[in-house]
Order: sequence, then C-alpha cells, then structure tokens
Amino acid sequence: MRFSNRMNKVQKSFVREILKVTENKEVISFAGGLPNPRFFPVNEIAEASNMVLHECGESVLQYSTTEGYRPLREFIANRYYKDLGITADNIIITNGSQQALDLIGKILIDAGDHIIIEKPGYLGAIQAFSIFEPAFNAVSLGKDGIYIEELKQVIEKNNPKLFYAVTNFQNPTGITYSSENRKKLAEIMKETETILIDDNPYGELRFDNEPIESMVSILGTKMISLGSFSKVFAPAMRLGWICANDEIIDKLVITKQASDLHTNNFSQRVLYQYLLSNSLDEHIAHICKAYKEQKDCMLAWLDQELPEGVEVTRPKGGMFLWVTLPERTSSIKLFNIATSKNVAFVPGVPFYTNCKDINTLRMNFTNSSFEDIEKGVKLFACSLKEIL
Ligand SMILES: Cc1ncc(COP(=O)(O)O)c(C=O)c1O
Repeated sequence: MRFSNRMNKVQKSFVREILKVTENKEVISFAGGLPNPRFFPVNEIAEASNMVLHECGESVLQYSTTEGYRPLREFIANRYYKDLGITADNIIITNGSQQALDLIGKILIDAGDHIIIEKPGYLGAIQAFSIFEPAFNAVSLGKDGIYIEELKQVIEKNNPKLFYAVTNFQNPTGITYSSENRKKLAEIMKETETILIDDNPYGELRFDNEPIESMVSILGTKMISLGSFSKVFAPAMRLGWICANDEIIDKLVITKQASDLHTNNFSQRVLYQYLLSNSLDEHIAHICKAYKEQKDCMLAWLDQELPEGVEVTRPKGGMFLWVTLPERTSSIKLFNIATSKNVAFVPGVPFYTNCKDINTLRMNFTNSSFEDIEKGVKLFACSLKEIL
C-alpha cells in the first residue's frame, strides 16, 4: 500500500501496546491513564439523556454548529475563564482534548516547523503532533516546572511555533508549575511569537486547597487553553474544548468542519443537562477525596518498599506519579520482569521524542484498590531488586 510519508514518522501508541498486556485480569495495572469508573455518574447521565430526548426531542439528534452547543460554551467561559474578557465566542467544543491537539497541529504546524514540548511530555501530544512532521524541541521539566533558561535558549535559537505544556499535575510526572515558574514563563511568552498551549485536563483534580494562578489568568487569549470533561465527568462522552482568540477560533472552525463537522451534539446536550441538574463541584470533591487516598496509599508503600536511590514525585493532584530509578537502570527491562510477576506500569520511553530506553517510568494511582496498590508495589519493588 502506498501510505503517505508522514505515517512513517508516527509511532503506534506505546500505551495501547501495554494495554494488551494488562488485558490479562491477573495483572495489577498501574499503566493506564483511566479515570476510576466508580465515579462515572451513570444514573445522572441516564436521567439527563432521558430529559434531553423527551424535552428537546429531535433537535438533539440533528446536525449542529461546528463551534458547539452555545449554552455549554457559555458554561465553560463562565466557570473557567470568568473576568478574563473571555466569552463563549472564544470557546470551541472538541471531541476530547485529544482532538484539540490534532486541530491545533493542523492550523499551526508545517513539516519541519520547530515546536516545544516538555521533557518528559504527554505521549498523546507527541503522537498527535508527529503527524505534522515538526522538529521537536524537548525542554526539561524540573520539580517546580519548566527549565526557564533552556526554554529561553530554544526560543531564541529556533523561534518555535508553539510550546505545548501541561502546567497542572502533568502527565506523566504529576508535577505542577510553581507560581514563580509560571510568572517567569508568562514573561517569556509575552515577548515571543511562540504561542503557549496549556493543556489542563487535571487542573480540578486538586488534593489540597492551594489553588495556583492559571497561565490563562496571566496571559488571557495571548495563549491557547485546553480543557476536558474526560477526567471529571466521563471520557466516553468525548467532550473537551479549546479557548483561544477570534483569529485562532476562525481557523479552528474551518479545520474542524473539514474534520468532523461538529462534536457529538447529543453528548454535549446530555452534559449540559447534567450540569444544570447536578453540582459538578460536589462530584469533583468526591473524586479528589478518593484519588488523594489512593495516591497517599501508593506513596506510603513505595516509601516503605523501594531501595535508596529511587526518586518518586509527590503530586498534589491528577492521576500519576513519576519514578526515577538509579542511573542506567532500564525501565524496559524492569517492565518485562514486573509484567512476568503480573504488575504493569509505563516505562518512560514514550514520553520522550527520541529515546530507546531510560531509567524513568509512570505509575497511575487512580484505578487500583488499596489491596492492589499494596500488592502491586511489593511486586514492583521485588522486580526492581532483581535488576539493581
Ligand atoms: C495531558 C492530556 N491531554 C489530553 C488528553 C486526552 O484527553 P481527552 O481527549 O479524553 O480529553 C489526556 C488523556 O489522558 C491527557 O493526559
């Protein structure tokens, strides 16, 4: 078959490959990035679906506008961008934030264009952007955020089109950019043509009460802000959004029209009805309480079981923590041993753009019971001892 050249540049999603291993019910999986299904509001979604079908009838099953259902866009503008001069006109509903990455790639990236991603960065973004054949510049992430000097140098040298970041409870590391780091980042972004894209699916999964100023509250529509209902509602609904200035929204509308005409209208209407009849804040508070307990449990077992020389991030929200093994320890070798003992995680490799093996790995804590966390961490530590 004569496939396009660009398909040679895209890797199969490593996580999908790993999920094949974890399909085995015996395997305790810390690999996936799945929200805990215990919190999917099944009954509320059933009620909301019934209501929109019975009260709004055929209109919810009809084609709709590319930008998305206006009341939902108004809700988003109000909840997430209040007092920033941002309105529903700045919001376009997408088929999850994953589609946002594809659309942004389409409107901004030509083959060979420089773009910046975090190192390590969200593998779904690396995959989505790879289709457009950019030159990746990976800038290191430290425990307080992005390395400012490295970022400045890359911007000065290569004038990249965009910087893709996950500033809250990052995937894969769980790291959150500090206030100081955000301010410095904002200063840089104000002075450059490189546009910041802050992807924020985890921002509301916060375990403490210390909200941090969002990048969009500093930069407004000088940047692009992405959001998603996957982690706070249900991923199968495939509902996310892009918040951007009018010029960018216009281009996004054209490319979304070409791509899928519009996001599932029924999903949007059901979500909106759910938001009218229920408190999203209360729902999120339940999720956060449970995820915090799971995170604490995993950290406690890791602290107890892991040998000296292994570092683990201590996230204040989100779904992941990041483990750094002693130098030159292969996370792929560890993965093979661990899966033979029926425990899985994601080796660091797919979170980098050019990497064959590395001493880092990602663990998800939201989708396992306390018993499985204990058992899985013990098996993980046991596997590690075999290769140290
Ligand atoms: C940082 C980040 N962005 C985007 C996505 C895609 O989410 P969705 O398309 O379900 O909104 C994910 C999913 O895990 C993610 O971690």
